[in-house]
This record gives sequence, structure tokens and C-alpha cells, in this order.
Amino acid sequence: MNHSIILIGFMGSGKTAIGKILSDKRAMDLVDTDSWIERHQGRTVSQIFAAEGERFFRQMETECLETLLTDKRGKVIATGGGLPVKIENRPLLKQLGTVVYLRVSVGEVMRRLRGDDTRPLLQGGDPLNRIKQLLELRTPIYEQTADVAIDTVGKDKEAISDAVILAVNEHVQRLRRI
Ligand code: S3P
Repeated sequence: MNHSIILIGFMGSGKTAIGKILSDKRAMDLVDTDSWIERHQGRTVSQIFAAEGERFFRQMETECLETLLTDKRGKVIATGGGLPVKIENRPLLKQLGTVVYLRVSVGEVMRRLRGDDTRPLLQGGDPLNRIKQLLELRTPIYEQTADVAIDTVGKDKEAISDAVILAVNEHVQRLRRI
């Protein structure tokens, strides 16, 4: 296994922010799948969704994971919120290392993403309902895909990243005992 720490979870769960802290603390490179796709495509996530549609974007997410698997150095990987929804991506995440789910509440997502115009899936319509629907659909997927889950609500970023490091270490120790 190429031992990376992979952060999964809903939009606004803090994957990118926590990923940056973890990458500093563990001296590991950070790869953000959205940024990887934007760099390879030379356009933003919103532009890709608008021009090519969601399916194309999901295919780019798979390509990103496949490319990451060819590099054996452990990294911190912050994923897009919908990446684990595509079933083929789940074993790829597992092969990359320890999958960490950052749990967040509907209220907290609303608070953190108020005024955000970079998430195409939340534009227009009724964002609260959209968040509720997507969270309901995705929560079991996040829970099943993750090796460990961390509650983020009410914790600051330092506390969350310390909790991630502890949980990843415990998970790796457990694997070594098997
Ligand atoms: C998406 C989440 C976004 C981005 C795209 C789709 C999703 O990433 O990949 O807008 O389907 O939840 P973040 O989770 O980093 O916001």
C-alpha cells in the first residue's frame, strides 16, 4: 500500500483546510483532487461542470486517483465531496492508504458555505434542501468507505487535525497486528 492519508467528506467539511495542516505536521505533500483537476484541465471546477457536465468531472476524479496510485510516496489527499460516490473510486481510495471521513452537520455546511459560488452542485434552487438531500444520500457511502471517522463540529482545526493523526496512527497499528 502507498501510505497516504485521504480525507473524504461533504463540501465544507474542512478537507482542504485540515489537509494543509496535516501536510505541514507530517511533512507530506498535499494533493487536492479539485486543484489537480483544475491544473490538468486549465479551467475551474465550475467551468468544467458547465462545459462538460458532472460525468466528465467524475471521470477526471478517477484519473486523478489512478495517477496518484502510481506515485508510491505517502501524501495527504483532500478529495472532492462527491468522489467516493462513484463506486469504482472506493477501492482506489483504500489502496492509497488510510481513508478518513470528516463528519459535519447540515447547519455547519450552511454556515461555512454561505455566499460560496464555487460549488456548482449548490448553485441556484434551494441550497439547504440540496445539502440535506446530498448528505442523506452520501453519509452511508462516506461511513462505509472510511477506515476512521472524525466529528468536526465544535472543534477547531488544530483539534481536528490532532484527532486525525491519532486515529490514523491507531488504524495503522491495528493493521500491523493483523
Ligand atoms: C463536489 C464537491 C467539490 C467539487 C465539486 C463537486 C461534490 O469539492 O469536487 O464541486 O460533488 O460534493 P469540495 O468537497 O472540496 O467542495
